[in-house]
Amino acid sequence: MGENLTIDSTVTCDVLVIGAGGAGLRAAAYIGEQRPGTKIIALTKVVSPQKSHTTTAQGGMAAVDPKDPVDSAIFHMFDTWKGSDCSADQNVIKKVCELGWEEMVWLERHGMHFSRTEEKRIAKRPFGGHMLNFGETKAFRACYEASRTGKGIMDTVWNESLKHGVTFIGQCVATELLFKEGTCVGAIIFRFPDGTFSAILAKATIVATGGNAKMYLVTSNCRGNTGDGLALTLHAGLPVMDLEAVQFHPTGMVGPGILASEALRGEGAILRNKDEEPFMERYAPTAKDLAPRDLISRAIITEFREGRGLFHEGHKAYHVWLDLRHLPKEVHEKKIQEVSSFFKRFVGVDPEKDLCPVTPTAHYQMGGIPTNEFGEVQKDPQTIVPGLFACGEVAAASLHGLNRLGTNSLLELITMGRVIGAKVVEHLKDAPEPEGPPSDAGHIVFDQFSTYLASQGTESFAKIRDTLRHLMMEKVGIFRTEKHLLEAIEKLKELREKAQRIPIGTTSVKANQNLWQIWELNNLITVSMVIAHGALARKESRGAHFREDYPERSAEFDYHTFVYMPEFDKITFGKRPIDMSIFEAKGEHFELFDYIERKY
Ligand code: FUM
Repeated sequence: MGENLTIDSTVTCDVLVIGAGGAGLRAAAYIGEQRPGTKIIALTKVVSPQKSHTTTAQGGMAAVDPKDPVDSAIFHMFDTWKGSDCSADQNVIKKVCELGWEEMVWLERHGMHFSRTEEKRIAKRPFGGHMLNFGETKAFRACYEASRTGKGIMDTVWNESLKHGVTFIGQCVATELLFKEGTCVGAIIFRFPDGTFSAILAKATIVATGGNAKMYLVTSNCRGNTGDGLALTLHAGLPVMDLEAVQFHPTGMVGPGILASEALRGEGAILRNKDEEPFMERYAPTAKDLAPRDLISRAIITEFREGRGLFHEGHKAYHVWLDLRHLPKEVHEKKIQEVSSFFKRFVGVDPEKDLCPVTPTAHYQMGGIPTNEFGEVQKDPQTIVPGLFACGEVAAASLHGLNRLGTNSLLELITMGRVIGAKVVEHLKDAPEPEGPPSDAGHIVFDQFSTYLASQGTESFAKIRDTLRHLMMEKVGIFRTEKHLLEAIEKLKELREKAQRIPIGTTSVKANQNLWQIWELNNLITVSMVIAHGALARKESRGAHFREDYPERSAEFDYHTFVYMPEFDKITFGKRPIDMSIFEAKGEHFELFDYIERKY
């Protein structure tokens, strides 16, 4: 343990929320609403919750009005099951799809400005893979606030959390989970500006740190999405699930990968190759440009491979076109104005007049910390960890299985935030007061930080990070093979070694940018290793996980992958069965919830 590193203070609360994005704050707001006076502390890595990644979500939140004359929750459930390539959990699908409308109404009643139609009804737009009548035709199911839906959600849940007295700590990360006799009793947090460690003791701890796609060269993720919550969990000896399922959104803006929302295609935008052919008709004759993301991303890469992509000289990257020129002026100005302005600002094209260059961008982690349908973290498929909960992108209940449909993430983070809030309220009824940190508190983080602070090495942080991002993109990206995955694993071992030998500069822990970044880099390498091992072990293609050497789905892999990696590269696998409760209930349409063929 580091000689000079100590826990500077100990604070107690009822609930510690690690990550103040949409999911964490929906849970906090629910707890505050149902149990006034609950002492809730929410940590955010950024300066304020409004900088959370949820804020960047653009296109919408799927929700079916139970009174809708044409759409129905069962269609949504089917689409989610089929979209997942038969790998999501049906108990979670049912719960989330059925709660969606109520949660949309909750958001509206608490101040969110959903876009409305001329008749003043909630406006809805189509998104990939969302269809009516079990796959017949596109469904208008995504409720939205122009192209800034995530911002509307964040404003609302943040406001509600403030109203219920949640205490926020900014520029702060959880660096170690604390346990007493197997029960989670809080976490050690590290505050970047003053370099202090605190033990936050809590009756319930909710991990809601969001996504982790920053290990990919091209990504829509924010700078802070470095897999901290997953690494935290792995270091505690707990499993993560299905990390091999990484979603590439088909339309990132060429270069940085900033999201060009699927809402654009929902409003009628068309993907075209270098010959300006609307190529999706060849890959998904029914759904075309509104096929699920995994399918479109693979189609785009296939276009590149077969010589029908274009090369962007400025960014040295391949792309296809997104054509928005034919959309009515009103759509450009009222429904997608933010995305249009991003194209103008970051790519220098005007979507009203020009074709827009797009390429797949790493967007979402379908897997995560395994939880049951109430958000209680699992130690193994049969056992929960008392006191520990997880929700949002960092968690896997799993609504999405190995492929998520667009707009199901905002739906999930809001509904599961509430579900977990309810479970926490129940848990608080007889949870004992935390009595003080465990005697070994700090042993993980002080070891890590001591190594980083003592480093006299000469390795370059920038070089390691760049190598990692290229490696993951090229060898653990959209198309995978055993050869590439094995090469990636070997290279990751080397990168991990090197990451321990980056010169620290100053050894002060106060506002030490190097220390913070080295910690993040190690988290990224840790999570990358699990993604690569999971992808190697899953010798089939399912959803977003595509193995060129095993191009078909295989019944042998009808399960969720559990991975334990308490120490780097010391991997143990486990399996969790896929919940088939809708199929097993043998209700109306149950046969559609079997392992069905997936065609669009
Ligand atoms: O394309 C989008 O607006 C993204 C939505 C999502 O990831 O659900």
